[in-house]
Amino acid sequence: MSTIIQQKKADGGLDLAHLRAETPGCAHVLHLNAAGSALPSQRTLDATLDHLKLEAEIGGYEAAAMARDELEGFYPSVARLIGAQSEEIAFVENATRAWDLAFYSLDFKPGDRILTCVSEYSSNYISYLQVARKTGAEIVVVPDDEHGQIDLAALERTIDTRTKLLSISHVPTQGGLVQPAEAVGKIANDAGVLYLLDACQSVGQLPVDVDRIGCDFLSVTGRKYMRGPRGTGFLYARRATTADIEPVFLDNHAAKWTDDNAYTTRDDARRFENWERYFAGVIGLKVAADQINELGIGPIWARLSELADGLRRRLATLKGVSLTDLGKVKGGIVTFAVDGAQHAGLRDALRRQAINVSVSTQFSSRLDLQRRGLRDVMRASVHVYNTEQELDRFVAAVEALL
Ligand SMILES: Cc1ncc(COP(=O)(O)O)c(C=O)c1O
Repeated sequence: MSTIIQQKKADGGLDLAHLRAETPGCAHVLHLNAAGSALPSQRTLDATLDHLKLEAEIGGYEAAAMARDELEGFYPSVARLIGAQSEEIAFVENATRAWDLAFYSLDFKPGDRILTCVSEYSSNYISYLQVARKTGAEIVVVPDDEHGQIDLAALERTIDTRTKLLSISHVPTQGGLVQPAEAVGKIANDAGVLYLLDACQSVGQLPVDVDRIGCDFLSVTGRKYMRGPRGTGFLYARRATTADIEPVFLDNHAAKWTDDNAYTTRDDARRFENWERYFAGVIGLKVAADQINELGIGPIWARLSELADGLRRRLATLKGVSLTDLGKVKGGIVTFAVDGAQHAGLRDALRRQAINVSVSTQFSSRLDLQRRGLRDVMRASVHVYNTEQELDRFVAAVEALL
């Protein structure tokens, strides 16, 4: 059996040698920072650069006209990835803005409740605080269960007629936890409550199907598990439940000025977009979405889980290292604490060896890390292009620095 076939078998059907050859960054770095920004494929890089070049050569508007089919193709490609309709997708420059566009378009009144989880992302929580201060809405943090995921029984007890929104992060920035998004969605749907899911770290990493999950809005970034260009992302808005929600911002792309004193808003999710955008990025993210669709999210998730579990097993053998991931289901983000070490110093020392990891701090998830008494954690996040040999090398490098 050839090595590639053996490798293919070991990698759940993914052709690892080909994936690595198609990822230029693999030749330069041991990249364990997919949760920060993953390495893009050559195809994505070429598509993005080609459009930038075309803009420089023939003019930006003319390049957009020439690339019309690819630009339009963004919507069905991304929709397919999450089981949505093309009309339910808006291109947005990052996950935070996509999330904001949904959240700030809601009309909160005094006494309305926003239900969220302990591991919520900081930017989202800051927005809850701002809206609560301005409108008199109330934030309710549903506690975790014994696995560190949202306590579904507590959620069921808490959700009530005052609840205007249920909003959680599917996979937090600071660990491997995968929230039971589908079970949460069932509770939200049964209660008739709008459900906003921050899927920034989950789309591209694991199967995400908006109908199974039952979310009304879902926000995603391009550069992380989707392996798209930086400065890209998207918002999903379910047509059946959000069509009446008018975006917080409108411009002459989202709406049409029909009379001196009148306008009509677009009736698809593109009403959340604005006119100017990173066109090369739209094309790059389309190509990245196509690649995920081609590889299959099932094999990607199987491979990421296998790599991450293997990394956790290896790290557990190191003295002074404690794993800090929560959850019944754990994904590709591996976090750990090192006794007596300055995690930022450790990250920098690894970077000097061309090994990329990051540090998650209370800055990005205050409630969760604070409650666990963790100031920060080391974060090593795998993607399909990583190998078992890289994990061995990484763990040996950490051990040498202890
Ligand atoms: C869970 C989660 N939500 C939102 C964001 C913000 O994404 P972006 O930087 O694309 O706005 C992040 C980034 O790390 C994240 O991890």
